[in-house]
Amino acid sequence: MPSLGVNIDHIATIRQARYREDPENPNVEPDPVAAALLAEKAGAKGITAHLRDDRRHIQDRDILRLRESVTTKLNLEMGVTEEILRVALEILPDDVCLVPENRREVTTEGGLDCRSNLDVLRPAVARLRGRGIRVSLFIDPDEEQVESAADLDADFVELHTGAYANAAGTDVERELQRLQSAARLAVARGLRVNAGHGLNYRNTPAILGLAGLEELNIGHSIVSRAVIVGLEQAVSEMCGLIEKE
Ligand code: PXP
Repeated sequence: MPSLGVNIDHIATIRQARYREDPENPNVEPDPVAAALLAEKAGAKGITAHLRDDRRHIQDRDILRLRESVTTKLNLEMGVTEEILRVALEILPDDVCLVPENRREVTTEGGLDCRSNLDVLRPAVARLRGRGIRVSLFIDPDEEQVESAADLDADFVELHTGAYANAAGTDVERELQRLQSAARLAVARGLRVNAGHGLNYRNTPAILGLAGLEELNIGHSIVSRAVIVGLEQAVSEMCGLIEKE
């Protein structure tokens, strides 16, 4: 049965919307670390946070505090830059998920192009794994990307579910098939399989049968529901959906 990793970037986004210019203000809220602990209490098996190059939501101090406080596992999402690699090698998260980063995007848009970036990715994967960090590559569900991830000796692929989540009509089935083929190939090539992006309470059940699926990383939809019903209930409802299958 897959487990749930909760992405808490969106909690930091709310904080930064008000306090970006005034981080020492005594009223700074909400606290992503408090949210992470509540998510764990409600059944999340991991916490994911993305330290972006532009620090638009999660800050370095958040990552430090998360490392000290998270008791399930901490998954650091990051672009491949020397600066953020150094943070990862110092903080030692349990997992790192390497993602492409583009300053103009609202959220991570596409998967990593592993095939065209073997030279940049290979030393980064090796350095992280050399310190005992499990490395995941966030990729589109394409055969050539899975093959490159295997060639790079990653531990996991995180299959990008955005195209599936945004599909309508007959495209939904086609995107599901793409995810399933990529998951099967990943398993056959010795990779472990996670998935995420754009998943919500409606479209998550259909992907639970992906070959080898271990973890789903979900943020926006859980935080959106939390605004209405509270974070613990929102996390617990998603855990219930995942564990029901
Ligand atoms: N996985 C990765 C690699 C991501 O970049 C994101 C978005 O930050 C997520 C999962 C979670 O996506 P969402 O917020 O759409 O659930």
